[in-house]
Amino acid sequence: MTLKRVTVAAGVGLLLAACVGIPQASAAVTPGDGLALTPPMGFNNWNSTHCRAEFNEAMIKGIADIFVSKGLKDAGYQYVNLDDCWALPQRGPDGNLVPDPVRFPNGIKHVADYVHSKGLKFGIYTSAGTMTCNENGFPGSLGYEQQDADLFASYGVDYLKYDNCNNQGVDAKQRYIAMRDALAKTGRKILYSICEWGENKPWEWAADVGHMWRTTYDISDSYGSMLGIAKQNWALAEHAGPGRWNDPDMLEVGNGGMSGIEYRSHFNLWAIMAAPLLIGSDLRKATPETFEILNNREVIAVDQDPLGVQGKPIKSANGLHVFVKPLRNGDKAVLLFNEGEQQSRISTSAAEIGLPRAAGYKVRDLWERTDRHTAGEISATVPPHGSVMFRVSMDPRWAAYPSFVEASVDTATVYPGALPLVRPGHDTTVTTAVTNNGRLPAVQVDASLAAPAGWSVQAGSPSSRLVLRTGQSLSTKWTVKAPASAKPGSYSLQVNAKYQPGGTASYALQVVVPQPAPRTGFLSDFPWLRTTNGWGPVEIDKSNHEAQGGDGNPITIQGARYEKGFGAHSPGVIEYYVDGKCTSVTTDVGMDDEQDPKGSANFEIWADGRKVTESGVLTNLMPAKSLSADITGAILVRLIAADGGDGNSNDHADWADTRITCS
Ligand code: GLA
Repeated sequence: MTLKRVTVAAGVGLLLAACVGIPQASAAVTPGDGLALTPPMGFNNWNSTHCRAEFNEAMIKGIADIFVSKGLKDAGYQYVNLDDCWALPQRGPDGNLVPDPVRFPNGIKHVADYVHSKGLKFGIYTSAGTMTCNENGFPGSLGYEQQDADLFASYGVDYLKYDNCNNQGVDAKQRYIAMRDALAKTGRKILYSICEWGENKPWEWAADVGHMWRTTYDISDSYGSMLGIAKQNWALAEHAGPGRWNDPDMLEVGNGGMSGIEYRSHFNLWAIMAAPLLIGSDLRKATPETFEILNNREVIAVDQDPLGVQGKPIKSANGLHVFVKPLRNGDKAVLLFNEGEQQSRISTSAAEIGLPRAAGYKVRDLWERTDRHTAGEISATVPPHGSVMFRVSMDPRWAAYPSFVEASVDTATVYPGALPLVRPGHDTTVTTAVTNNGRLPAVQVDASLAAPAGWSVQAGSPSSRLVLRTGQSLSTKWTVKAPASAKPGSYSLQVNAKYQPGGTASYALQVVVPQPAPRTGFLSDFPWLRTTNGWGPVEIDKSNHEAQGGDGNPITIQGARYEKGFGAHSPGVIEYYVDGKCTSVTTDVGMDDEQDPKGSANFEIWADGRKVTESGVLTNLMPAKSLSADITGAILVRLIAADGGDGNSNDHADWADTRITCS
């Protein structure tokens, strides 16, 4: 990634602060104003449109309509907010900001009135600087705080997002307090969202300045970005509370860059962290799955719980996290989150999450919407990047609910973290486990394994048991065979367990039927199994240009140009299924000239779980290095561009002239 933000030297800023007369201190307006007693919920256009033309009056009205028609208003989503690019690049003759007449031909008040007519609230955006963040140079509010606050109040604004670009080095507290006081002077209740990206640790000083503050730089629509931001935000849990929320940025759910499992984790994480829930996708084009996530009322209730505690991990190891958020009625929200690449069991207990001792507890699964009872164990097998969310209660009627039975499916992988593979026409051994975590016995327990149509499934050991007592498991081995004609792709193997009294449990393992192994030639001419990349997608026969696929330049290292190869960005992995049929990979590696003189990476080649060769850290000032790897017998080969020690910036890592030799 290339960082874009630049602020001018502090000296210039101080001078400007003096010129514009920014106040040094004044009365607090939050949190006693009763706004944001629970984390704000609504919509903001930025993540879906950025500055593009589809950000306009029709979009904002359309979102307000959908809030009502799809039940999102009833679910608690309230604010419909404009982000950057709503104004013209110049203020008017009276010094006021001027709405862009193409996007908003009827002005902003008209849109605000429309939003209000739906029983919703309206928000707007500007920056605590001379200009906003967009490169088109829209005017910011530094030095115009009162004039702009008055204009916003006259529009009927209920929410202001106040950004940090072009701040001229003026002290952040001064800038944000100046707008807080200007908003207060308007006499209108305006929720105040501080967006200085955590640069000045607002969690330490902004509780009486704004209702929420960004804790990080911008989110983007990728799992890596979402995860990195969640981690920064969850470390700050102690600072949040009613009227003062940590803001890990707006939601990306529905924008297309993450899987359904990842979007659910994104939503669960934001909810357990009591984060503001600002929908960031264009709901006019949203899928039923997007609505299902955004409209999960029970997860929203966790976010919105009036106790206002930000949940945090009570234990984390190897990327497996147990989050707990205490709720007002004494219940605990529990999130089991697997950040890694390998499905894993995550477990905790009623005692560990802080509930008093009891014979049984009620466990509600907030996505399955089932009620179960547990003797204390709270656990699940969680898919890669996935999460499971429970609400656990003290309930004297716990015995009325079926036992909390846990189900899992497993199969051997080539190395820990490798995709579970099914080779068409070959037997694959799959193990299922069904475990009773309930206090009461589960009886007549019956497990079955569902595979895609045309696949054969045979139990190699008993798949039913008369009684499973607390803590006991039924483990079954199965032989699964996909027909030789099975197409490459991802398939699900699902265990379904039935038991008495009255329960079911299930879990699905995603397995992959790989593409056939490559033949001798340029590796980039064959389809890979999977990739991960530090920034943007991996490019084929081009350098990595960070944004969309196909945007790269010719691969060039210290002036040497290559026709074939991959344009990666460290940290990144390109993985191939070679099925034991290939013997060597040869390649040149180096940092692409397009980021000269920045960037570094260590290039490694792995055969199954074994590192065969590595380049050592290469920088942009070094020529290409040649690598040769013996991969004889390997099933999977990985080209890994590891971090060169300087983080995920400017690391355009080229695999050049990469060839594979196969039988
Ligand atoms: C900054 C903010 C974003 C968005 C853009 C608009 O990057 O952090 O959330 O408002 O500006 O230009």
